[in-house]
Parts: sequence; structure tokens; C-alpha cells
Amino acid sequence: MNILIVGTGYVGTTTGLIFCEMGHKVTGLDLDDHKIRSLQEGNLYFYEPGLAELLKKHIQAQNIAFTNHTEKAIKENDVIFLCVGTPKGTDGNADLTFVRKAAESIGQNINTYKVIVTKSTVPVGTAELVTGWIQSKQTAQIPFDVVSNPEFLREGSALQDALNPDRIVIGTESEAARTIMKELYKNFQCPIVQTNPKASEMIKYASNSFLALKISYINELSRLCDELGINVNDVSQGIGLDERIGPQFLRAGMGYGGSCFPKDVNALIQIANEKGRPLTILERVVKVNEEQPLYFINKIKDALGGELNNKTIAVLGLAFKANTDDTRESPSITLIDRLLEEQANIKVHDPIVKLWPHQCRTVEKTISGTDAIVICTDWEEYKRINWGKLKPLMKQPYIFDGRNMLEKDQMENLGFYYIGIANY
Ligand code: UGA
Repeated sequence: MNILIVGTGYVGTTTGLIFCEMGHKVTGLDLDDHKIRSLQEGNLYFYEPGLAELLKKHIQAQNIAFTNHTEKAIKENDVIFLCVGTPKGTDGNADLTFVRKAAESIGQNINTYKVIVTKSTVPVGTAELVTGWIQSKQTAQIPFDVVSNPEFLREGSALQDALNPDRIVIGTESEAARTIMKELYKNFQCPIVQTNPKASEMIKYASNSFLALKISYINELSRLCDELGINVNDVSQGIGLDERIGPQFLRAGMGYGGSCFPKDVNALIQIANEKGRPLTILERVVKVNEEQPLYFINKIKDALGGELNNKTIAVLGLAFKANTDDTRESPSITLIDRLLEEQANIKVHDPIVKLWPHQCRTVEKTISGTDAIVICTDWEEYKRINWGKLKPLMKQPYIFDGRNMLEKDQMENLGFYYIGIANY
């Protein structure tokens, strides 16, 4: 099948390459010339493990091409995936400007029957809107169907997640479109949930919100564990082994970030409020998440004597989680802003993200002469550091582990004052 992917961000590019792996021909369409040029040359313009190699492979094999020619791209393809951004609008709702633009372009250029698939995370009812936007620009009655097929891949493990999904959700009222979608996904060994577009759209928001809820639950619990001197990691393990609960997304830390959870939880809250059925449980999820970095800052302040204005602090990690160069809604940035408000001197490091020209290139340089280290991102390389060797470089050996990635006993044996998130 000839597949068009509209929007070549990490979801669009990954989706396109996965379909190449399944033997399809794919075109990536984007209005951003920089992105298109870079991808055409086989250069991934964002960091995502394993994807750059796959891009080169399929460019060479001519399975994937990138273009900014909207009309030609729409006319030449049968299945069109909408993978454009849906950022948080000013009212908390998802901003559908890019989805609408793409849908209208399809309406203007549709020449044969097409299946239009929304993969971007969109509010309940968007499939209906997309149908209307396409129709509003059609000059001839050419049939098409709209399908909701949400994506569940994570940044940092996009390829693995997209190749091995837990489930595929296909939301459509059309038998013809459902058959085409099932054909597209026939090589995947996982359950397919077949439903209508609205339920499919809700599944996406509800999944992300539930995962965010798990994180906020363990984070709020960690504060109580702290008070009681209980290791929250043991609690996560103990409850996570119950199959009904499951071990994932129970790692206490500085709170969730990224381009998805904060945006999607807020969007679902917004929808619920508009319908007069508030999801108060999610409102609390958001609040706990906002509080968590501040809770951690207070622990840092208390340990360092109540004032930070004469302290130099090394912040390790800027990305919202390991294996990505994305800093959107990163708890690390919240923490840095707060440290700056407290007039602390800051030195920062990240293995991939470079936000400031004066950023330190090595962990050694970053921690030299500092009063404390704060670990904000769970990069594997921070685990492997020879901490004993680096300790003498510090003014005071305080280490605040916002990801509970180090062993308290080990760090104390090396002579550090170690404080994690209820990590005893
Ligand atoms: C999330 C979902 O996990 C994907 O299924 C979904 O497709 C994606 O959003 C999306 O909607 O596009 P992502 O935002 O890439 O994926 O990253 P996650 O691995 O889910 O992590 C989100 C945040 O939660 C990170 O800040 C992470 O550090 C934090 N987290 C995760 C915790 O604090 N504790 C945990 O136990 C797990």
C-alpha cells in the first residue's frame, strides 16, 4: 500500500519507518523545509535510539521519501496518516490547527477513495471534525473514511514500542476502512481493539492519564514514606508484583514531564469540565505533579542549611527522561528555574541536550567546586560514574537523587551525604 505520513516528528517518522519495515512504500510530508531536507539526506533531526539507522536503510532502499509537495503527495497515496502536532492551546484544550490544515488540504486534493487516519493525540470527536473539514473543501463527491488509530510509543524507545505494541486500536464506523487497517497491521502479533472513533480517541487520553495517575500516586506516597522512613522503591516493588497493579510507572521521582502526559491529562480534564463531569482525580494528579519538584527543592534547601544563595549546585540531566533530547515540561527545567529564583549558582550537564553555550561538557567539570549535585534525568551514564573518584572535586559531597537511580548505602560508603526520593 502507498502510505502518506503527514507530519514528520518522532511519531510520524517512526510510524513511517515501521510501515517500511512491513514492506510498504511511504512518503513523509511536512511543511517545514529544514526537516524535509534533513530527512531526505538521511539525517534524523532529533535524537531517538535506533531510528537514524533505519532511516538510512529505507532511504537507500527507496522505501521512504520526504516531500513538501502537498497536492502530489495526497493524490499519489491511498492511506494518509495524520501525525501532526496537537500542542496545548491557551484554554487547556489541544490545538487542532495543524490537523485542520491537513484535513482541508486532503479535501482540496482528494482524487480517489482514501482512508485518513488520525494518529496524533486528539480530543474525543476529532474524527467527526476531520470528516467535516475534508468535506468542506471537496469540490466533487469522492468517498473517504476517517479512522482513529492512536499511537502508544514512548520517546526514547519509540522503535521498540512501535514494533512491539501491546495493542492496536482501530476506531472507525467503516467496514472498508477497518479491512484496510487490519491489512496494514497484519504482521503485528498483538490484540486489535476494534471500536468507533470516539472510544478510540478516549482510549488514548485515558491511557496516558492513567499512567500519569500511577506516577502521581507513587510520588505522593513517597512523601509519606519519607516521613515514616520507608523506602518507596520497596513499596513500588511490593505493590507492583501484584499482577492487577503491575510494576510499570511506579518509579517515584521528580514528576512526569514530556510533550504528552502534561498536555493530555490537562486536555482530558478540560473535556470533562466542558461536559459537566469533572475528573477531580486527574486534577489532583496534576497538582501532585506540580508539587513534586518543589517538594524536592525544599529537601535540598533543608539539607544545605536553609539558604541556596551562596551555594553552587550541579544539575545532572536536562531531558524529561533518559534517551531523548526533549526538554518539554522537563522537571529538570522547573527545578533549575526554582534554584535560580533562590539565587543559587548553577552548573548543568546533559549527555545529549545542549541548551546553553556555557554548559559543561563533562560531569567532572560540572561537579567541580560545587556544594551539591542534583540528578534530574535517569541517564544510564550517571549510574556508571566512578563517584568515589569524583567526590574530591566537590566542595561539599551532597548528592540529591531525583530519580532514585543510585544506591544510598554505596554512596554513603563513599562519603557522600545522599538524599533521594524516600530512598533508604
Ligand atoms: C508517553 C506514554 O508512555 C506513551 O505510551 C505515549 O504514546 C506517549 O506518552 C504519547 O502520548 O505520545 P513519553 O511521554 O514518551 O510516553 O514518556 P514516558 O516514558 O511515558 O515518560 C513520561 C514521564 O513520566 C517522564 O518524565 C518519565 O520520567 C516519567 N515517569 C515514568 C516517572 O516519573 N515514573 C515512572 O515510573 C515512569
